[in-house]
Amino acid sequence: MQVSNVAVVGAGTMGASIAVALAMRGYPVIVKEATDELLEKGLANIEKLNKKRIEKGGNPEHIQEERNRIEGTTSYAKFADIDLVIEAVPENIDIKRSVFEDLDEYTNVNAILASNTSSLPITQIGAFTRRPDKVVGLHFFNPAHLMRLVEVIPGLETSTDTVETCLQFAQSLDKLAVRVDECASFLVNRLLGRYMNEALFCLQEGLAGIEEIDNAAREFVVPVGPLALRDMNGADIGLAVAKFNYQEYGERFTPPAILSEMVDANMLGRKTGAGFYLYDEKSGQKQGPNPRVAELLKSLKTEKKSDSFKVERLFLPMINEAFIALQERVCAAEDLDPALMAGLGMRRGPLTIAADIGLKECLEMLEDLHKTYGERFRPAPLLKRHVWARRLSVL
Ligand SMILES: NC(=O)c1ccc[n+]([C@@H]2O[C@H](COP(=O)([O-])OP(=O)(O)OC[C@H]3O[C@@H](n4cnc5c(N)ncnc54)[C@H](O)[C@@H]3O)[C@@H](O)[C@H]2O)c1
Repeated sequence: MQVSNVAVVGAGTMGASIAVALAMRGYPVIVKEATDELLEKGLANIEKLNKKRIEKGGNPEHIQEERNRIEGTTSYAKFADIDLVIEAVPENIDIKRSVFEDLDEYTNVNAILASNTSSLPITQIGAFTRRPDKVVGLHFFNPAHLMRLVEVIPGLETSTDTVETCLQFAQSLDKLAVRVDECASFLVNRLLGRYMNEALFCLQEGLAGIEEIDNAAREFVVPVGPLALRDMNGADIGLAVAKFNYQEYGERFTPPAILSEMVDANMLGRKTGAGFYLYDEKSGQKQGPNPRVAELLKSLKTEKKSDSFKVERLFLPMINEAFIALQERVCAAEDLDPALMAGLGMRRGPLTIAADIGLKECLEMLEDLHKTYGERFRPAPLLKRHVWARRLSVL
C-alpha cells in the first residue's frame, strides 16, 4: 500500500517532532489536538522546533514550505482520506483506547493506525479497533525529526502487509526502520534499561563516582554518560520505566534503590535543577556533581562486593540482554547493533562490543558476577552456545 496522506494525533513532545519529520520528507500532514487551546500550543511546539532548525543553519524558505504542509485541526472531519495515522497522545491506556476507537470510526477501513507508544502493548491497542491487522507500533525516538531510528512493532494480529508498508514508510522518511517483535519496552529501551540500572548499581555500591562512570562510558562508546542521561530524561520517568521493566521481566531488571531515593528527594535532574548533577538556574547549564547524592548513597549502606570499577561492567547487562532478545527472536541479529547505534548514538552496538571484548571473556565475566550478585548477571543461554561453538561473534 502506498502512503500519501498522513495524520498525527497529539502535538506534544513527540507528535510535534513527528509532524516536522513527515513534512521534511514532503508528506502533507494533518495534526489533531484535543482542543483549540491545545492545538495552538501544539502548533507552537512545531514552530519552536523549526526555529531551532533555522538557528542551526536550516534554510528558512524550505522550512516554511515544510511548515505549510502541516495543517492543524481539532476534529476527525478530514480523516476519511488518510492512509496512515500516527497516534502520539499521552502514555495512558484509557486515552489510547478512546483515540483508537475514534480512529476506527472516522478513518477509512484501509487506513493503518500506528501508535508511538513506548511501552503499551500493540496487541491490546489493536483490540480497541475492528481492524487489529492494521494496527502497529511505530516507535520514533525523541526528537523524531533528528533521531534516525524507528522501531516497527507488529502486534499479534498485525498483518505482514501493514508491517511492510510501515517499514517502507519509515525508510521514506530517511530513517533506519527495524522490525521489532512485541515485548516490554521493545528493543532499544529494553537494552538501555539494563545499562542504566547497572550504572546506578555501580554508583550505589561505591565502585565509582558520578563523573567517573559518565566519563568512562563516554570514552568507551556513548555520546552522553548514563547519569547525565538520567538527569535529562528525569529520575521520575526513569523510575516508572524501571518498575515497568521489573514487573514485565522480573528480577534481572530490579530497580536500583538510589532511583527511588532521588525521586523522593525531588532530585529529578534537569527539570528540578538537581539530579546526579547540579544545573544552573538561569542557563540550565550542567554544573558539577550534586553533593547531596553522596548523602543518599550513605543512607543506603550498600555492601561493596567488587574491588574495582571496569567500564565493561556497565555494558555486560546490555550485552546479555541483547543475547536474550536474540534468543526470543525480537529482531534480526544484523539489525540489533544498527538499531542501538541509531537509537542511542552509540559508536558500537552491544554485539560488536561483545565481539571486541571476546564472547568467551564476556561469558566468564558474567559467570563471576552472577556468583557475586545473582540473577541480574545470569548468562544468556545463547551467549553460552556461541562460546561452546567457538564463535567469535554473532554476526
Ligand atoms: N517523550 C518521549 O521522549 C517519547 C519517546 C518515544 C515515545 N513516546 C511516546 O509518545 C507518546 C506521546 O508522548 P509525548 O511525550 O509526546 O506526550 P505529551 O504529553 O508531550 O503529548 C501528548 C499530546 O497529546 C494530546 N492529546 C491528548 N488527548 C488527545 C486527543 N484525544 N486527541 C488529540 N490530542 C490529544 C495532548 O494535548 C498533548 O499535546 C506516548 O505514548 C509516549 O510514551 C514518548
